[in-house]
Amino acid sequence: MRIAVLGGGPAGLYFAISAKLRDASHDIDLFERNAADSIFGWGVVFSDQTVDNLMANDPVSGAVIRDEFAHWDDIEVHLRGETIRSGGHGFIGIGRKRLLAILQDRARSLGVALHFAHEASSDLAAYEDYDLIIAADGANSVMRGANAEAFGVDIQTRANKFFWFGTDRVFEAFTFAFKETEAGWVWAHAYRFDAGQSTFIVEMSEATWVGLGLHRMSQPEAIALCELIFAGHLGGARLLSNALHLPGPQAWLNFRRVLCERWHHGKLILIGDAAHTAHFSIGSGTKLALEDAIKLAEVLHRPGLPREEALAEYQDERSVEVLKLQNSARNSTEWFETLDRYLHFEPIQFAYSLLTRSQRVSHENLRLRDPQWLGRVERWFQSRARGRPANDAAPPMFAPFKLRALDLANRVVVSPMATYSAVDGTPNDFHLVHYGTRAQGGAGLVYTEMTCVSPEGRITPGCTGMYAPEHVAAWRRITDFVHANSAAKICLQLGHSGAKGSTRVGWEGYDVPLESGNWPLMAASDVPWSAANQKPQPMTRGQMDAVRDAFVAATRMGIDAGFDMVELHVAHGYLLSSFITPLQNRRGDEYGGALENRLRFPLEVFAAMRAAWPADKPMSVRISANDWAGEAGVTPDEAVEIARAFTAAGADLIDVSAGQTWADAQPVYGRMFQTPFADKVRNEACVPTMAVGNIYEPDHVNSILAAGRADLVALARPHLIDPMWALRAAAAHDHRDIFVPPPYLAGQAQLARNLKRAAEQDAALKA
Ligand SMILES: Cc1cc2nc3c(=O)[nH]c(=O)nc-3n(C[C@H](O)[C@H](O)[C@H](O)COP(=O)(O)OP(=O)(O)OC[C@H]3O[C@@H](n4cnc5c(N)ncnc54)[C@H](O)[C@@H]3O)c2cc1C
Ligand SMILES: Cc1cc2nc3c(=O)[nH]c(=O)nc-3n(C[C@H](O)[C@H](O)[C@H](O)COP(=O)(O)O)c2cc1C
Repeated sequence: MRIAVLGGGPAGLYFAISAKLRDASHDIDLFERNAADSIFGWGVVFSDQTVDNLMANDPVSGAVIRDEFAHWDDIEVHLRGETIRSGGHGFIGIGRKRLLAILQDRARSLGVALHFAHEASSDLAAYEDYDLIIAADGANSVMRGANAEAFGVDIQTRANKFFWFGTDRVFEAFTFAFKETEAGWVWAHAYRFDAGQSTFIVEMSEATWVGLGLHRMSQPEAIALCELIFAGHLGGARLLSNALHLPGPQAWLNFRRVLCERWHHGKLILIGDAAHTAHFSIGSGTKLALEDAIKLAEVLHRPGLPREEALAEYQDERSVEVLKLQNSARNSTEWFETLDRYLHFEPIQFAYSLLTRSQRVSHENLRLRDPQWLGRVERWFQSRARGRPANDAAPPMFAPFKLRALDLANRVVVSPMATYSAVDGTPNDFHLVHYGTRAQGGAGLVYTEMTCVSPEGRITPGCTGMYAPEHVAAWRRITDFVHANSAAKICLQLGHSGAKGSTRVGWEGYDVPLESGNWPLMAASDVPWSAANQKPQPMTRGQMDAVRDAFVAATRMGIDAGFDMVELHVAHGYLLSSFITPLQNRRGDEYGGALENRLRFPLEVFAAMRAAWPADKPMSVRISANDWAGEAGVTPDEAVEIARAFTAAGADLIDVSAGQTWADAQPVYGRMFQTPFADKVRNEACVPTMAVGNIYEPDHVNSILAAGRADLVALARPHLIDPMWALRAAAAHDHRDIFVPPPYLAGQAQLARNLKRAAEQDAALKA
């Protein structure tokens, strides 16, 4: 085959090598706009896995690359005069120039025709004689640009400015240095890539960049300023630019995230950065480029595989890998873009947050990498939580938490879950056993299901209520059991169904109206939940008074029923949520329109409840932090304002849920998918938050807490199937300082022993 490769970066060179290795008869021309030795860039980092892949594909170049790698293990985070150093991270790096020189030599030796100083044309007609055209021309690919529609190109330009410098200073650890300037924070990502040089990427927000005057500075001026800012880290070494031909401001880049729906178009194939990019802060661009090259060469060479199928397999397999990395890269990019949130953290927590920013590295990964360091983090966390020095390194989930005068034994929470098992609102034996078992299961706090403040405020006929004297007595039986037989506290969630009321119990179909006996509905406006649901009546002021009073009455009953805490449910599209979300609130009065207006009635209800609830007892508010409707609905930015407003009215905790506010929402599900909202609300509004949503492993809970992304973590479905979730987690960590009902102690001890033995056997096998 005659193959034209456009671009002589890692992707182009390595594809040419990999294709030639598989079939020496290929006639390959590689066109690179730069001279062979005028290559941009400093160092690149890899993982051991990438090296294994290179060795398997081409042991000759693989061995040269492997032998030249610089290895290092530690990461150092420098913040406010403190250095936090942790180990076990295992990086390998090489100079980009050296890597490309090795690949050029190898390509030449295999007979690839390398044409340097040759600008490739974006005109396909120029490559008529070729069977395949490989567009390996990088993140700004002209070929991709000229065929953008065919490839379905999606480019996102990210917010921060960065400059990719080199330096002769050798950093022994991967170094993140954060410096405060009069215009804001500036930071460097620095790592050694050979015996005498390091990469030194300087990054900052656009506002800081402008504030420092870098948008007007020549390169020498910008370099001098960066050298001054990082003088303490550079130890007299200079910062080196290999983009000196550019005017100063243009040498600063904004990262561009590239995504393509299709990776080939006729005989034109995208590879490497031309097809996709991954933010430099996770250092995987070169790895992806090399692995694309291997896969593409492999499928094109497979006997009997038609070209279209080969290319489909290439895209299918590689795009999954790319998507995984781009997800991590997005988290990491966003972390650096929202850095201001975390700068008030103590340096050790800041470092933990940095290390776990992509969500690829968790608490237990860090324990494996550096158990001593993780122990320090755990002791720090426990000390802060207990208000006194702690010498035992218990996992963060077993740290206490205080809300007003209420002491929670740990941070694990049973999330509110409707059981639809009440009759006329009265909880019964089912509820006693359900809540009693979950309280005995070790969680620090157990929420009731949404308990409704009036009969017509129920979602289904099976919902629990707090509007009749018999409800108080029935709930009292449950809270008494919880207090007498567990260390858990119990919180009453109060709500009103609004437009989502008068439906069947969950397992007979969510949000499906009753077959008979439907009751009339009310909501902020006359917007039905769906075409199948009743049209609600827009609430009059008189109805608003009645609903507010019902919430207050239920709150007072909550005192008599023995609850430790009350939560107001203003999420998930129910009555109060229908005021907050613009998707349901169409009112033209003072309760509709701007967020301030939409919050007016929910805040009025909350304030009235707060006045009725004892001052020493805490209250939380459950919000939907995102309507998943873009600017048309509640956005995470608005969620911060909502949280601030309820906190100002006396809320002690914001329970950060999301969605369920309109029937056609398309949430982006995934592990811990709502936690970013809890993080944003906590660290922008500076209020305690509870995270919830697809959090199911102890490792998730510990990672969220230690990184300061939330103060409590609620698990719903995991507790349905395993009421003893927290006791099981304690056994897995061999954590003894948790209340176990005395009759169950032997079971807990045996589980701890068995899990310990299994972990030891596992470790022995791995060793
Ligand atoms: C600041 C920064 C730090 C990075 N750090 C790392 C890291 O630590 N680890 C890592 O793995 N990756 C890193 N990367 C990413 C990495 O550089 C790329 O992902 C990787 O180089 C992609 O390889 P590629 O061959 O697809 O593209 P490139 O390396 O960009 O190569 C494209 C080549 O095409 C040439 N070209 C472009 N247009 C034309 C044309 N019209 N005609 C002829 N030639 C053309 C270019 O000159 C270039 O040589 C970093 C990137 C940046 C910006
Ligand atoms: C069966 C069931 C019933 C639920 N009922 C309620 C409820 O009454 N009040 C509420 O705020 N959330 C309710 N939720 C939402 C959960 O509290 C939680 O936010 C959601 O399930 C995500 O957490 P998970 O991934 O741990 O299950 C319910 C969830 C389930 C699965």
